[in-house]
Amino acid sequence: MEINNAIALVTGASGGIGSHFVEQLLHSGAAKVYVCARSLNRLDELVDLNPDRVIPVELDVTDPDSVIAAANQCSDVNLLINNAGIALNQGVIAADDLKSARAEIEVNYFGMMSMCRAFAPILKQQGGGTIANLVSLVGKVNLPFSGSYSASKAAALSMTQCVRAELASQGTLVVAVMPGTVDTSMASEWPEPKVAPAEVAKATLQGIIDGQEDVYPGEQAAQVSEQLLSNPKGVEKYMAGFLPGMALAGATA
Ligand SMILES: NC(=O)c1ccc[n+]([C@@H]2O[C@H](COP(=O)([O-])OP(=O)(O)OC[C@H]3O[C@@H](n4cnc5c(N)ncnc54)[C@H](OP(=O)(O)O)[C@@H]3O)[C@@H](O)[C@H]2O)c1
Repeated sequence: MEINNAIALVTGASGGIGSHFVEQLLHSGAAKVYVCARSLNRLDELVDLNPDRVIPVELDVTDPDSVIAAANQCSDVNLLINNAGIALNQGVIAADDLKSARAEIEVNYFGMMSMCRAFAPILKQQGGGTIANLVSLVGKVNLPFSGSYSASKAAALSMTQCVRAELASQGTLVVAVMPGTVDTSMASEWPEPKVAPAEVAKATLQGIIDGQEDVYPGEQAAQVSEQLLSNPKGVEKYMAGFLPGMALAGATA
């Protein structure tokens, strides 16, 4: 699909990658961009970019009423970018309890699923449209340093494949975006290399234009996705070296 004249919605728009999506959507001629955050005051700077085309929406993807309200308010969307996510950097065994894992699943999996379900009929009405789900390379291979987050992204990737299959008949393109480490506050404790958030937004929008189902933004993502095909066990063993609680910032993956 074309980005020019698209009517887009970006969840987690106040975050590192989200704000770049908004800037690039505007730059590429999107007619309207609904920018979503849990707190409207985090969206002021984005609205200032273009108050006529940027519409702030209060949205907590874990709250079903909030998701339904957003779908009612944004019933003309033809490009849904499910970007909201949290990473609490916990292992599975090393974590004190299941709290972090449950919180990550609520946002990264159930939140994304709720958004897909709420907007599927809207996209159908708009002739098909596109859903882009921000998954992660760690949805394909676990990074134990952030092990429960990785598991939530694996669930999100599987769910994305199901949504793709279910919405194929209505002509909706469903894109899984799988960056490696991105240079945002979420990844401040994660090892180098880090791809720029602008690069993730750019590669995703280009993938949407090209009709790509799987997008691997940046060199690290491209390389590791190849290695996962040629030597999946080798990649798993390599990632196993990054254990929960390690001081990773400044290290190189
Ligand atoms: N950074 C990386 O290395 C990396 C790598 C691969 C994939 N990703 C994925 O890319 C996406 C964006 O990440 P980022 O690096 O830009 O992270 P970020 O800067 O922490 O931004 C995350 C955004 O998610 C929003 N959010 C969190 N919980 C939410 C909820 N319950 N409802 C609605 N919004 C919520 C936050 O918005 P508010 O707090 O303002 O509501 C925030 O704007 C995430 O899905 C992440 O998992 C990131």
